[in-house]
Amino acid sequence: MLAIDVTELFFSYSETSVLEDVSFSVEEKEFVAIFGPNGGGKTTLLQLLMGFLKPARGKIHLFGKAPKLIRQCIGWVPQNFHFDRHFPISVQEVVLGGRLSLGGWRYTSADRKAVKASLERVGMEKTLHAPFASLSGGQQQRVLIARALVSNPSLLLLDEPTSGVDHVAEKEIYALLGELRKEMTILMVTHDLNRAVESVDRLICVQKSVTQMPKEKVCEHFALGLYHSKETT
Ligand SMILES: Nc1ncnc2c1ncn2[C@@H]1O[C@H](COP(=O)(O)OP(=O)(O)OP(=O)(O)O)[C@@H](O)[C@H]1O
Ligand SMILES: [Mg+2]
Repeated sequence: MLAIDVTELFFSYSETSVLEDVSFSVEEKEFVAIFGPNGGGKTTLLQLLMGFLKPARGKIHLFGKAPKLIRQCIGWVPQNFHFDRHFPISVQEVVLGGRLSLGGWRYTSADRKAVKASLERVGMEKTLHAPFASLSGGQQQRVLIARALVSNPSLLLLDEPTSGVDHVAEKEIYALLGELRKEMTILMVTHDLNRAVESVDRLICVQKSVTQMPKEKVCEHFALGLYHSKETT
């Protein structure tokens, strides 16, 4: 079964058309990178996959079902995680937030256990009680990945998980994703194509429409700073 199956999808924010006639699919356990210019519609596409936005036209199926019905099987690492720097939210509380999608109103001991297991998976278990704001950018990203993993997702969606982190942290995040890909389907938005090309199975360019590209072609075009495919030049 396909993990993601999108057909003839259209989406606009009121007057602004953002995605037009988008069709693509992702196999189970594939690791796919999404790239494209700023404002190209990458985050919007992830939000449609999460069922947070509704397509104007077209269909989205995740593991054969509508996004809303399967949201608890999706782990999401947002592009901007908003938290109040002056309010001391702990790492544990951040990761517990990922259990809310399972529908409970109170956290149980099973939730706390899952939080610990999830932090262990990303190598951040020692920070359980640390204030989230006290962590480095790379550590915060790993905690956010733990938050996405805490509901045991089959599909992991990451929106620029390595933006603003240093090279060491970036390498660690890729190593972690390299492990996670054995167990789940991963779709990751990134601007760092050189690194992505080394790690992913396939790349998809989102610029209003979607173009699937073989890795070799992306390399060549990234070097030129272009976002369109060869046929259109
Ligand atoms: N909530 C919104 N209301 C109206 N327009 C929006 C909204 N969110 C995004 N847009 C517009 O939709 C377009 C696509 O935005 P989106 O955030 O999906 O792009 P992106 O590819 O993720 O960009 P970036 O690389 O900067 O993260 C942009 O023109 C943006 O200004
Ligand atoms: Mg974005």
